[in-house]
Amino acid sequence: MLSQEDNDILTQVGPGTKMGELLRRFWMPALLEREIPEPDSPPVKVRILGEDLVAFKDTDGRVGILDNFCPHRLAPMHLGRNEKCGLTCIYHGWKFDVEGNCVDMPNETPEKEFSSKVRMKAYPSVIRGGVIWVYMGPEEKISKPPELEWSRLPEGQCYATKRLQQNNWAQAVEGGIDSSHISFLHSRNMDKQPDADKKIPINKYHQDGHPVVHVEETDYGMRIGGRRKAEEDSYYWRFTQFLVPFYTMIAPVGNFEDSRNEPYNGHAWVPIDDENTWTWSFGANPHRAYTEQELSDLGGDEGMWGPVDDNFRPVHNMDNNYHQDRELQKEGNYSGIQGIPNQDAAVQEGMGPIVDRTKEHLGSADLAIINFRKRLIQMAKDLADGKEPEAANQGNWYNIRSVAIVLDKEADVDEGAGDLFAGGEIRSAAE
Ligand code: FES
Ligand SMILES: [Fe+2]
Repeated sequence: MLSQEDNDILTQVGPGTKMGELLRRFWMPALLEREIPEPDSPPVKVRILGEDLVAFKDTDGRVGILDNFCPHRLAPMHLGRNEKCGLTCIYHGWKFDVEGNCVDMPNETPEKEFSSKVRMKAYPSVIRGGVIWVYMGPEEKISKPPELEWSRLPEGQCYATKRLQQNNWAQAVEGGIDSSHISFLHSRNMDKQPDADKKIPINKYHQDGHPVVHVEETDYGMRIGGRRKAEEDSYYWRFTQFLVPFYTMIAPVGNFEDSRNEPYNGHAWVPIDDENTWTWSFGANPHRAYTEQELSDLGGDEGMWGPVDDNFRPVHNMDNNYHQDRELQKEGNYSGIQGIPNQDAAVQEGMGPIVDRTKEHLGSADLAIINFRKRLIQMAKDLADGKEPEAANQGNWYNIRSVAIVLDKEADVDEGAGDLFAGGEIRSAAE
């Protein structure tokens, strides 16, 4: 349970809000590189943290992320012409380069022309892991992007996708660090449904619906261990990583005894505004390239994190009740909804765009969620008091992995699995 005041701090992300200012200290995934695939391709609208922006790739291949409202009379720039090293407003022809400089003002006579005095809001960007990242904070506070392994691996060993989620970002993060829901929301009777959701193997150890949740606070966020009964003398541990402000790494599936050579997936929940979120999903396969089949199963618009339409809106959505199938439910699919991300979206969006946290009843299984809220609210308050978030300047903290492993009941976690949490070597800052 949270006070109304703290719930507002946690969920409001517009310019000038406490959380909005905190999030602006961090680089964020803004759009997929393939949305603006080549020089002079059509510009696209991007809305992040309640700001309407436009992204385009200019004739020289440089990426610009600008205000979407032309500074002349505020016409939308995403309808503009992208050509000859700049984006031109289709209303009166004012033209801007990727840095937001006005480079042409053709509706003014040369004597009255004042283009040198007009500048558009422009945010820095970098391309990593097939994603265009944006920094929307104060210029003097800019640092390097986080060294997340998936954003640095060679093409073919990583993927990134996004889908629209119609609720507040914190609500979505809370779903991502909620270990105990997996045994319910995502469970199914595999005997009866050999083909359902076959893209994700579900571990036999998930039958234990009462995981003991261990939360360890770290410099980058939290290591969340869900401990389930395995055999007589062992536990099955799934360690989800949470990295401030909105990343998770999900414990791998595949080899259930030891995930060391397995690929892993994760998410980033980037606020579009207070009531909408981009749910990013990514994968890292540090030890080999994904096969083509794996990449289309995971990374495509029709893959595991979809299906989505051309605007990245899920096909199963609140307007069609997520195509919940009561027959399927009777047969053993716990939710009656196909696809893990659709199951998550159904319960998270169904709470309403901003859940009223003053009305909740949290239990011991919600420990990670409680810690997440405390941590982020404190960071937002600290920044308002002048204390900068250290993690925004420590990109190397993000070079870690999630882990799934069966350990002896007596084993110490750090001794048994400690070395598995480190990410791969950082060879170069790929900027
Ligand atoms: S509104 Fe854009 S040039 Fe006039
Ligand atoms: Fe889930």
